Amino acid sequence: MCLDEDWASAALVNDVRRGFGRVPRSLPPKWLYDDRGSDLFDQITRLPEYYPTEAEREILRNAASDIAAKSKADVLVELGSGTSDKTRVLLDAFTANKQLKKFVAVDVSAATLRDAADRLSAKYPGVAVHAIVGDFTLHLSSLPVGGRRMVAFLGGTIGNLFVEERSAFLGVLADVLDPGDSVLLGTDLVKSSDRLIAAYNDSQGITADFVRNVLAVLNRELGADFDIEAFDYVPFWDASLKRMDLRLRAVGDQLVRIPRADIELELHDGEEIRVEISSKFTPDGIADELETAGFRVDGFWTDSGSDFGVTLATRL
Ligand code: SAH
Ligand code: AVI
Repeated sequence: MCLDEDWASAALVNDVRRGFGRVPRSLPPKWLYDDRGSDLFDQITRLPEYYPTEAEREILRNAASDIAAKSKADVLVELGSGTSDKTRVLLDAFTANKQLKKFVAVDVSAATLRDAADRLSAKYPGVAVHAIVGDFTLHLSSLPVGGRRMVAFLGGTIGNLFVEERSAFLGVLADVLDPGDSVLLGTDLVKSSDRLIAAYNDSQGITADFVRNVLAVLNRELGADFDIEAFDYVPFWDASLKRMDLRLRAVGDQLVRIPRADIELELHDGEEIRVEISSKFTPDGIADELETAGFRVDGFWTDSGSDFGVTLATRL
């Protein structure tokens, strides 16, 4: 399970060709996380308006020992692990009683992943730490086997998948896990549109830079000539689909060449590119999706503000 550079550039070309042919034109969010994007995301997690990270950390602080006891896992796999910063709360609980043998972090962002894995190996010498550069929408069948596994998917990243991608993802996850293995799923909860819009449109403009950075990735990786400053960042709350929709809107007509994907993109003034969605959940909705995929919910925790949810579910 390793993304070599050829795999990544072929996948980017495919995603660009397919995504720019859609209405609205769209890109999968995994391309947001080059080194700069990962660093900008890390800055987002510390913004006053962006509540999910601290809400989830509060939940993990209160529930980690319970999660360790209930899951009985001796192998912890983390998908979309990034810096694995909050994961330390879990690792502390799982190592307090020497329960954990192995920690496996999986992320598309190679540099962030390796840096996190190095730090964790130094901090938890009794745990075998592995880092796998891979795509959790494509490479789950190559997850390590053996032991009692718990797959942590934190931060609300599952909300960045479309509903049909989500059910496919949970279905494949259930297929690759054995009965008794579990998933620990972090999900952002539905709340007022004002707070959601503030969380995705911060006053310092870090989220706007993070979203625009995807065009810098296309310029660098595919030789494209996007004029990055000629796009407005437009986040909005889609109340019927219960998701934030993060888009870039062309200011003025633009003809963009993307040589390595062999396409030219004619964007009209006001035309939008969807870069990411971020779905928000209800506790019942999360339980339904997990149960449909073949899991039994064994625990649900929320923070003091009821902003975020963490669910532990066991593969039946
Ligand atoms: N889990 C961390 C980071 C969340 S940011 C937290 O809770 O704060 C989302 C992370 O998922 C990034 O590190 C990004 O590189 C990774 N990611 C996004 N799409 C991915 C994919 N398809 N496969 C693997 N990793 C992905
Ligand atoms: C990683 N993911 C859960 C973040 C979110 O909140 O959807 C990504 C993000 N996009 C803009 N701000 C944060």
